[in-house]
Amino acid sequence: MPSRGIPQSFWLIFVFGLLAAGIISLAGFAIDKADRKDANVALAGAEAAVLAQLDSGRITLADLDPTDPVRVRLEEEGAEVPEEEQPPAEEEQPPAELQPGDADRGQQVFFQNGCSACHGDTGQGGIGPTLALTSLTVEQVLQQYRSPRGFMPAFGPDAVSDQEVADVRAWLQTLPLPDTIVPGEGTP
Ligand code: HEC
Repeated sequence: MPSRGIPQSFWLIFVFGLLAAGIISLAGFAIDKADRKDANVALAGAEAAVLAQLDSGRITLADLDPTDPVRVRLEEEGAEVPEEEQPPAEEEQPPAELQPGDADRGQQVFFQNGCSACHGDTGQGGIGPTLALTSLTVEQVLQQYRSPRGFMPAFGPDAVSDQEVADVRAWLQTLPLPDTIVPGEGTP
């Protein structure tokens, strides 16, 4: 019998195709559902952990990201977000209680650190200002050491301790005033 119109084999393939598509989409749905259930369980676990930390006071709502689902939900429920605590600003360390300067030790420190190269062997001055009989206080000398005003190299606490700075200053007070002063802030 001559086949008219659409061949039978087409219908067969069509029907099977539909069936296969249906099965695949059903399976996909089932897997998706299972995944979502897993995700929900994981989410609930994470939430419980966050809630426990909130309860114990280890964290506050302010510690959570503003988009965090727990924070969003609790805020919607009317929870107050405490002001975020600012960490206390680091305070400048005042110079530790220093012993009266030891001039001999100060002279050693002066030469060991190459201060003499710029300020002269007796603090008479050179590239750097005269330091003999400087009127700068220990704090001012310290300031110059740690963050020099100009091109003098800085000396950190590892290189020269606060006490050694006080020692240098004590030695500078024992030096004769040179005839020619290289002016600095503390030159007499
Ligand atoms: C490379 C040269 C150089 C060296 C090394 C150097 N200084 Fe200076 N120092 C200067 C200069 C230049 C100034 C002027 C201000 C500045 O440039 O910071 C100065 C300024 C000072 C001042 C301020 C004086 C004032 O009356 O204004 C003090 C104190 C001082 N130096 C101490 C020292 C000591 C102590 C050392 C060694 C640890 C030292 N300097 C090493 C070049 C030097």
